[in-house]
Amino acid sequence: MELIEAMRSQNACRYYRPDPVPEGVFYAAVEAARFGPQGGNRQPVRFLIVTDVDKKRQLAEWYLVPWKAYFAAASAGEESLTAGSGDEKATTITMTNPHKALADADNFADHFGEHPAIVVVLADIANTHPTDTDLGRLSIVGGASVYPAAQNFCLALRDQGVATTLTTLLCMYEPQVKELLGIPEELSTAAFIVAGYPVKAFPTKLFRRPVEEIAFLNGLDRPLTKG
Ligand SMILES: Cc1cc2nc3c(=O)[nH]c(=O)nc-3n(C[C@H](O)[C@H](O)[C@H](O)COP(=O)(O)O)c2cc1C
Repeated sequence: MELIEAMRSQNACRYYRPDPVPEGVFYAAVEAARFGPQGGNRQPVRFLIVTDVDKKRQLAEWYLVPWKAYFAAASAGEESLTAGSGDEKATTITMTNPHKALADADNFADHFGEHPAIVVVLADIANTHPTDTDLGRLSIVGGASVYPAAQNFCLALRDQGVATTLTTLLCMYEPQVKELLGIPEELSTAAFIVAGYPVKAFPTKLFRRPVEEIAFLNGLDRPLTKG
């Protein structure tokens, strides 16, 4: 499919058909994803595709703990917005229908273990190349050797008609996940990508901030224009 179309429609899919995704489809996706950039070309990313029913069920059990806490907090936040005491603009620019998006994400969580595959994206942190570890803030650069490949993976699946949702809540359970899946000491969990064939057609467009709000020329006081 056309690249820009794939980028614009690769959403966080909340509803999957039960059909399994063939191993060859994942192979083709990794084959393309591995061309993502990585600091020093050290290639620290690994993909572990989990389709085993019992393993997915255990992952789902762990996922629900932080999700339900997040869901309760987000629902409470929504109520205060409805009551008019919050920052409406902040929420309305995040998504077209925050209530539906939250309900769909909650349904997705309730069925987490039933989605066809959970792909654990692993990173060999010793082979990432963080350049911001001495700035007295949370490092973000290390992830830059990992997430381009993860996004490539999602796009390559999208190209084959497979939908995904990138999640990170399960990273809180890294020690337990590593034991469950036999992941060696040197690898860390970077993301858990749910994958499967979507129930509905892919969206034609996702809701995002306009270009003028996020891109600038020569200084943050000059929004980028079409020219
Ligand atoms: C770093 C990151 C972490 C995320 N973690 C979760 C998660 O744990 N659970 C979840 O349901 N969605 C998660 N998402 C999906 C986002 O909620 C989703 O990308 C966002 O709402 C936009 O959705 P859309 O692409 O369908 O418009 C995550 C996305 C990113 C990029």
